[in-house]
Amino acid sequence: MVDGGFAGKTAVVTGGASGVGRALCACFAQEGMNVVLADVEAPALEAAAAELREQGGNVIGVRADVTSPESMVELEAATREAFGNVHILCNNAGVGIKEAQRRIWTLTPNDWEWGFGVNVLGVANGLRAFVPNMLAHGEAGHVVNTSSGNGGLASLPTTPIYAATKAAVTSLTEVLHYQFLMEQAALQAHVLFPGPHIVNTNILSSMRNRPERLRDDDEPVAYTTMADLAKATGMENMPLTEPEEVAQTCLEGIRAGAFWILPASRANDAQFRARTESILARSNPVLPGA
Ligand SMILES: NC(=O)c1ccc[n+]([C@@H]2O[C@H](COP(=O)([O-])OP(=O)(O)OC[C@H]3O[C@@H](n4cnc5c(N)ncnc54)[C@H](O)[C@@H]3O)[C@@H](O)[C@H]2O)c1
Repeated sequence: MVDGGFAGKTAVVTGGASGVGRALCACFAQEGMNVVLADVEAPALEAAAAELREQGGNVIGVRADVTSPESMVELEAATREAFGNVHILCNNAGVGIKEAQRRIWTLTPNDWEWGFGVNVLGVANGLRAFVPNMLAHGEAGHVVNTSSGNGGLASLPTTPIYAATKAAVTSLTEVLHYQFLMEQAALQAHVLFPGPHIVNTNILSSMRNRPERLRDDDEPVAYTTMADLAKATGMENMPLTEPEEVAQTCLEGIRAGAFWILPASRANDAQFRARTESILARSNPVLPGA
């Protein structure tokens, strides 16, 4: 086990049962941390936690719904009961909204409520539940919010709600960073941008976790495979990024004290630069690929 200064400390990861979150849990466990793997999907969460324990990790699974403030408060209490103080909080749970290729004005109130409920209020609920005690215990700590290059840095035209939620995650994490500085806190904020390419996860089957009360349309999903998604976004010739690579980048970013945790590859820099330059030049955005 490598001791990078994190051994014996405690990490909590929401959306920990799958994809990026699961890889983050494995990475922290490998560092010798106590890990709380939190997710709304109980069977997947138990299986993932058991697998990491078999590999020697000190990991517990706790069912938690990030859209519920009460559930997140219970997660915080369960974490402190099991392991004491929290040192790394990853607000990572996120969903794709089944909106791909649909026009923004056709999306329903339930689409908006679900997307913002998980991707934005989920982060806010994580902050409300965990940050007060992380500040109070006074030890060094990190809050990592998972955004996306899509929306978090430059918006694709095809995923209206998702992109808007990730813009919000970037913005609220910048505010968190400033406020930690204003408080002279021992805590650091980080915003994680998984990539550089589409990450090979289960996000295209996000509908598995959509609550019954927020299901109101039967429009078919635009993509069911990562290959279809890659094709539709003009990325078909690029390899998928594996979640383990994202987790490693995240760990290095935390260690380096980086606010912007971006992929080492600069594959998407041109897109981010074009957006920034368009703002500074007061020129209108150009349709990507046009
Ligand atoms: N896959 C990509 O290409 C990509 C790119 C950029 C950013 N991201 C972001 O990475 C994060 C992780 O997504 P992923 O790609 O690993 O997808 P994933 O579907 O494999 O994992 C997401 C996890 O979140 C959980 N979850 C969903 N709703 C929840 C809720 N209400 N409460 C608690 N947990 C909930 C799911 O059960 C699942 O285990 C998301 O924030 C996503 O937006 C993904």
